[in-house]
Amino acid sequence: MSFEIARLIVVLLIVFLGFTAFTGAPYVPSMKKELREAFKKLYPLKKKDFLVDLGSGDGVVLKIAGEFGASGLGVELNPLLALISKFRLRKDKKFSIKTGNLFKLDFPPETTVVYVFGDSRDILSIVTHIQQQANRLNKKLYLISNAFMIPGYKHTKSHRAYFLYEIKPC
Ligand SMILES: C[S@@+](CC[C@H](N)C(=O)[O-])C[C@H]1O[C@@H](n2cnc3c(N)ncnc32)[C@H](O)[C@@H]1O
Repeated sequence: MSFEIARLIVVLLIVFLGFTAFTGAPYVPSMKKELREAFKKLYPLKKKDFLVDLGSGDGVVLKIAGEFGASGLGVELNPLLALISKFRLRKDKKFSIKTGNLFKLDFPPETTVVYVFGDSRDILSIVTHIQQQANRLNKKLYLISNAFMIPGYKHTKSHRAYFLYEIKPC
């Protein structure tokens, strides 16, 4: 392997793995089979649903949401992952990906459900942001949290490591 290729791989790895190491949840994708099951048990997605995936990684959550007929939007801080997910969803016009910080995202008015696979460091800040968006849109938003329960909030349903919350405007 030439030095140039090795250098490119190192740079890509730094971008890929290091980008969010200090800013938020690291990249760990949700499992397709578990996702399908979680949607069926917790929040059966329909055509009318618009899902926002906060920290959308490689786009797997939106891909599965599409199998249920839903549409949606992902926001991803890591530009390489955002690029991969744009490519993955390129044929599906119901989805779009924004490259950027989830805390700066204003949810579209059609949003019905939010998906988060964050980490314990920032789950409360993320929920505060979702609450602000529910207030701004003046509508209830459903929240599916993978792997983390939200301190101070009561979930309405759970399945394995997935928890469903209702974030009401206040
Ligand atoms: C655990 S992964 C989950 C990916 C995807 N949602 C899934 O379930 O497969 C968390 C993702 O959030 C992204 N992330 C972390 N902090 C972020 C931020 N402030 N804004 C946008 N994305 C962020 C990471 O780059 C990573 O891809």
